[in-house]
Amino acid sequence: MKKILLFSAVLAFGIAAEAESKDLPPYKDASLPVETRIEDLLSRMTLDEKIAQLSQYSLGSNDNVNNNGEMAKVLPPEIGSLLYTADDAVSRNVMQRRAMEETRLGIPIIFGYDTIHGFRTIYPIPLAQGASWNPELAGEACRVAAQESEDAGIDWTFSPMVDIARDPRWGRIAEGYGEDPYLTSAFSAASVRAYQGEDLSMPGSIAACLKHYVGYGASEAGRDYVFTEISRQTLWDTYLPPFEAGVKAGAATLMSSFNDISGTPGSANHYTLTEVLKDKWQHEGFVVSDWYSVHQLINQGMAPDEATAVEYAINAGLDMDMVDNLFIPHLKNLVDEGRVPMERIDDAVRRILRVKFMLGLFENPYTEEKPESERILLPGSLEVAKELAVESMVLLKNEDVLPLKPGQEIALIGPMAKSCRDLLGSWCGRGRAEDAVSIFDGLSVAVDTPVRYAAGCDFEGSDMSGFEEAVKVASESDVVVLCLGEKYSWSGENASRSNIALPGIQENLLKAVKKAGKPVVVLLASGRPLDLTRIAPEADAVLEIWQPGIMGGPAVAEILTGKANPSGRLSVTFPYTTGQIPIYYNQRNPARGSSQGRYQDIPSTPMYEFGYGLSYTDYEYGEIELSSDSLTADSRITARITVKNIGDMDGKETVQWYIRDPYSTVTRPVKELRHFEKRLIPAGGSCTFEFEIDPMRDLSFVDCKGDRILEPGDYYVIVKDRKVRITLK
Ligand code: BGC
Repeated sequence: MKKILLFSAVLAFGIAAEAESKDLPPYKDASLPVETRIEDLLSRMTLDEKIAQLSQYSLGSNDNVNNNGEMAKVLPPEIGSLLYTADDAVSRNVMQRRAMEETRLGIPIIFGYDTIHGFRTIYPIPLAQGASWNPELAGEACRVAAQESEDAGIDWTFSPMVDIARDPRWGRIAEGYGEDPYLTSAFSAASVRAYQGEDLSMPGSIAACLKHYVGYGASEAGRDYVFTEISRQTLWDTYLPPFEAGVKAGAATLMSSFNDISGTPGSANHYTLTEVLKDKWQHEGFVVSDWYSVHQLINQGMAPDEATAVEYAINAGLDMDMVDNLFIPHLKNLVDEGRVPMERIDDAVRRILRVKFMLGLFENPYTEEKPESERILLPGSLEVAKELAVESMVLLKNEDVLPLKPGQEIALIGPMAKSCRDLLGSWCGRGRAEDAVSIFDGLSVAVDTPVRYAAGCDFEGSDMSGFEEAVKVASESDVVVLCLGEKYSWSGENASRSNIALPGIQENLLKAVKKAGKPVVVLLASGRPLDLTRIAPEADAVLEIWQPGIMGGPAVAEILTGKANPSGRLSVTFPYTTGQIPIYYNQRNPARGSSQGRYQDIPSTPMYEFGYGLSYTDYEYGEIELSSDSLTADSRITARITVKNIGDMDGKETVQWYIRDPYSTVTRPVKELRHFEKRLIPAGGSCTFEFEIDPMRDLSFVDCKGDRILEPGDYYVIVKDRKVRITLK
């Protein structure tokens, strides 16, 4: 059983004794089906108790455990949920004991928190995880996050974020898995399964929350919290699929989004919350609003006052109100006035209770208070974080500089070289800068030769006084590793940028160190794609390391020294410049082919496209072979391709299978990812990769009502520059 009843032996005895008693109310009887228990409990609840269940409060506004402890003593114990911001389970147990012992029905609280890319063992940001093309490995990291979270008293994480983002100006692009619905769907399902495990009540399992439902990534011009223009067609073929995949994987909860979806904000959107999620997809868990998003219906120009905001949100299908505390003051009146039906309240309560029963909270409401040494930063957890960091880094350019040669003396220059905090990125849970191994420290222990350091400059500003020292250090060494990038606060929520180039001072530092005449390897740590027009041409090698987490330094060292072979591939397009945005690989064909409609001043192709990434070895792709070149709606065919590692280093290669539907009644993108697989291919060895094509799954498209349409005709199966035609009869 998941949570150990250590906190109150007396209570433990009380529950056990009751469990054996014939007078036990059915909702406390763990042997009964969950639905029976829900109905029994619901029938005993007053309207006030029901409304309290629909409310989430927050525990303290800062990291001070004493403040949290004080808050735990004064909050109403009947509330449904608490946004929990403590490092350990102490305050949880205080609060939970009040809920269990001091309330009439003893309904446990569900404790939620933003464990996004790790709780204390911080691993790469989701955008980087997407670039690993390894959802199973990302899932292992989610298991670590779930264990550390659960041990700190958390039942529920507000993750994964599965918003498709095509605009790197938007700071929250860091929090999702990139631009592609299929790749994001794979990570959505894998992380939900990993957080939740086989059974939510088992140790190491916490409830997942798919967010932000839906279309938040379409924020106009990359600004945060703004309007999003999303047609129903684009909603269905681009923004909804990762949510559908997460729901199918069993996600217990979803979070409604801030954005106004073409006139109806996500937190008051009956179509998305009820018609799609609950009616069409039959989701049985609950939807929590995003922070203050019910109140924000007023700012968005929908609801004239708080009561109306509550009415719109709950009637649209929102179940729990995150921290704006509007349900308790308004919902009862709204029910009395007939503006909110009682059935809607009951439905929302049922959903929340269902998740609590599934988590086993009624039987095991408390968390064992373990010492830190038993629950955070465990050796196996650090190893997973390092592996994921290694696999997510993308080698963008390499003119025979990498891997570094043994004996080479290294000049390690740049504002990112010794930074720890910036490696963690935004939303880094309870992560701490001092847990992180910097690039300098990681590299210094990995090589025997001197690593000469100079900061050169800060991340921004105009102080070039450090350039001279940087050039000197470069001159004394054999190779320069220049560590550039973004501060952690430049991406994440409310962190949009109008220009995705690095500040000029960093570009100028590159120009300056080039004067030393040594090969220059640029490392880029960022929470978004960058404009590299003035960086890539100057550098001999470019490695995108993203915000790699606390094991960033050792992971970088493994790649630079060749201990690891880069295997990351971009999960998002790197535009040529900011002016190209939005640019993404799965665009529709233009009306005049590619010779017209181009920019006059810049190329119309991106700097690096989705799926791109180099390796230290070379892979030779064979031809695509088909078990048949035609199929019917009910049949399957298998496509195969053999990939040979013709270099002298083992490597992991990801074969990306795309489908192109050249003509259909709703136009389709030029190509769409439909399958991928990453495998280790030893030097000199080869692997045959397969894609079993299921027409309904892989060739169909979804229309603006969400119905799947499969049209006979020709399709293309595409892998790299190989392309074969198949015909659906
Ligand atoms: C963010 C969510 C987050 C929530 C709770 C909001 O501001 O948009 O992603 O889960 O806060 O911290």
